[in-house]
Amino acid sequence: MTWLITGGAGYIGAHVVRAMTGAGEKVVVLDDLSTGIPDRLPADVPLVRGSAADRALLDRVLSEHAVTGVVHLAAKKQVGESVEKPLLYYRENVSGLAVLLEAVVAAGVQRFVFSSSAAVYGVPDAELITEETPCAPINPYGETKLAGEWLARAAGKAHSLSTGCLRYFNVAGAAEPELSDTGVFNVIPMFFDRLTRDEAPRIFGDDYPTPDGTCIRDYIHVADLADAHLAVARRLSEQGGPADLTVNIGRGEGVSVRELADLVGEITGHRIKPETEPRRPGDAARAVASATRMSEELGWTARRGVREMVESAWEGWCLRHPQALGA
Ligand SMILES: NC(=O)c1ccc[n+]([C@@H]2O[C@H](COP(=O)([O-])OP(=O)(O)OC[C@H]3O[C@@H](n4cnc5c(N)ncnc54)[C@H](O)[C@@H]3O)[C@@H](O)[C@H]2O)c1
Repeated sequence: MTWLITGGAGYIGAHVVRAMTGAGEKVVVLDDLSTGIPDRLPADVPLVRGSAADRALLDRVLSEHAVTGVVHLAAKKQVGESVEKPLLYYRENVSGLAVLLEAVVAAGVQRFVFSSSAAVYGVPDAELITEETPCAPINPYGETKLAGEWLARAAGKAHSLSTGCLRYFNVAGAAEPELSDTGVFNVIPMFFDRLTRDEAPRIFGDDYPTPDGTCIRDYIHVADLADAHLAVARRLSEQGGPADLTVNIGRGEGVSVRELADLVGEITGHRIKPETEPRRPGDAARAVASATRMSEELGWTARRGVREMVESAWEGWCLRHPQALGA
């Protein structure tokens, strides 16, 4: 079996490559390197540089590498940018996916794992978000992920393609400092960025109906997330007939933004008191996964805690921003 991993040179993709090759799976990466970094990949993993929406290239890669399964991570992923450029997001994340699925079906590939997101749920009023919680995305990014799930499932049903949609909650940390996230779009790198500039970390809203007034989120270590991809990929391979699996990938535990800020201060040694800004539109008070389906159906549970996420993310940050250590 060979797995094609689109977006494999990205932050999460590189961890998925590592988990899958570490478990003995054969992989090939397709990445246009728009945000990916080739050095994140082991030297013996073939990297094809190009678009996951290039049909001719896909036909060639699927055939030359005798691909039997696809893990599709390549996508545009910034919520704010998706509001400004919805057409780009729909083209990349939905139209591009349709091209990929056409190539997959034409090549007779039978397994397809799709990177979805908790953004498909929007701002649900639920203590724990289950896979049955209604999906109501509130921005084009979340819409494209939900449309992507529909597309993958419909193609799966029509063409005997087993599909697994993984709805990631808040991804953090790194298995190795070199594999860390280089973007500053999530709360942990945003805190690091402010502290490195000797500025107070910002908390958006402290008047939410939560115990300390700040938003509560479910953080998942990227190495655990990568292991979840391996578990889903293997389940799709084991199954006799086509499967259709949709799973939350979280820890089922909430951490408030203030608790996270305290932990970041302790781990980094930069103890600058956070400042409170007004709420941001679209932030739910609480977004915590029910992780029951993954544990009951696949026997997978996250092993790494929030401290390990912040420590490993900080190591990665300091590798790219050595001034952070002396600030
Ligand atoms: N990081 C998160 O917190 C998070 C949360 C939920 C879902 N996701 C999803 O996980 C996936 C990976 O995210 P990430 O954080 O690793 O982002 P990333 O930007 O680090 O990785 C995306 C990778 O895909 C490549 N890519 C983008 N468009 C491509 C295209 N058309 N053809 C080929 N390659 C292309 C990029 O070069 C990059 O290597 C995305 O689908 C994203 O929507 C991420």
